[in-house]
Amino acid sequence: MRTTKIGGGSQFTVYDDTGVGRYLNFPSAVMKCANVELGDELVAGGDANRDQKVLDTLQRELVALTHPGLRQHANISRLLLYDLITSSSGKSIPTLVVERATFGSLYDFLERGEHTITAKDRADICNDVTAGLSAIHKAGIVHGDVKADNILIFESPEPDKQFLAKISDFGSIITVDDAKEMEKRGGQVRYNGTKSTNAPETVNQSGRDAIKAEMLVRCDTYSLGLVYLHVLAGRWERDWEGKDDRVLELAIDVVKSSDLLQEVYPQFCEVVGMLLQYDPIKRCADLTTVLEALTPNQMSDNNVAIRYARGRLGNP
Ligand SMILES: Nc1ncnc2c1ncn2[C@@H]1O[C@H](COP(=O)(O)OP(=O)(O)O)[C@@H](O)[C@H]1O
Ligand SMILES: [Mg+2]
Repeated sequence: MRTTKIGGGSQFTVYDDTGVGRYLNFPSAVMKCANVELGDELVAGGDANRDQKVLDTLQRELVALTHPGLRQHANISRLLLYDLITSSSGKSIPTLVVERATFGSLYDFLERGEHTITAKDRADICNDVTAGLSAIHKAGIVHGDVKADNILIFESPEPDKQFLAKISDFGSIITVDDAKEMEKRGGQVRYNGTKSTNAPETVNQSGRDAIKAEMLVRCDTYSLGLVYLHVLAGRWERDWEGKDDRVLELAIDVVKSSDLLQEVYPQFCEVVGMLLQYDPIKRCADLTTVLEALTPNQMSDNNVAIRYARGRLGNP
């Protein structure tokens, strides 16, 4: 078996594995190994606090990846296997095996610019990510760190579609029921995420500014709005990191200068207007509204935005 490190941070290391996928009847897989070694005393050596954090993160990944409403969803990264693998020192390393994304993360896919991405592809990717996040919210889960690094790009199995986007990295999820329970007991749940891609209300979350459990999904929807800008512009702009209401004005400019056809500007302007509201009360809480705005007249299998983009390519 040949393994190459392809990503990861302090809690996990991600390896591209050319062997495991074959055994599981998948073309290829990646192994996401927890940076922790379990021995006879549960966690062997090291910093017990840090190790516990890694195991908590792993548990959150498993809650989302095995959720009945998510594990088969087309726009959610698929868990193939969970196992303890043995390290060279005989300790156990908890490992998730997930299907490998052909084009890697959406961040790398956009920034590397190695592939021609058409207007239809951009609309498809926005639609896919919204559908995945909507399913996560319907499952009573807040993703907690929506950004291009946590979205994976696959080859689409559908003939009229080039790419398929799936949401991944469930290490920061918050279960809404748990957050409500915590709130009842006088506690507070923090939305950690990533500073640059987080919603404005995450900046100060202490005391009276704590984010209410029922408002947490709106942090995800703001970050989704920024993913739209990243996809439509094809690159990340530091100006979008400003936590003020100018971001929405910039967003409208991004839509208008994107390569989407003018006919779909209204839909995309409407959608970024729902997602990137500075005030979480005014922001979209239910992503079905966004999916409906992108597919007027219930044309669910033939997104108007996509249809226009396709028409522009001379592709009926
Ligand atoms: N299934 C996958 N296929 C291809 N690349 C992946 C896959 N999973 C993760 N990666 C790569 O590894 C990086 C880190 O993975 P992620 O699950 O986000 O872990 P972390 O918790 O370290 O952020 C991703 O941004 C991506 O570049
Ligand atoms: Mg990540």
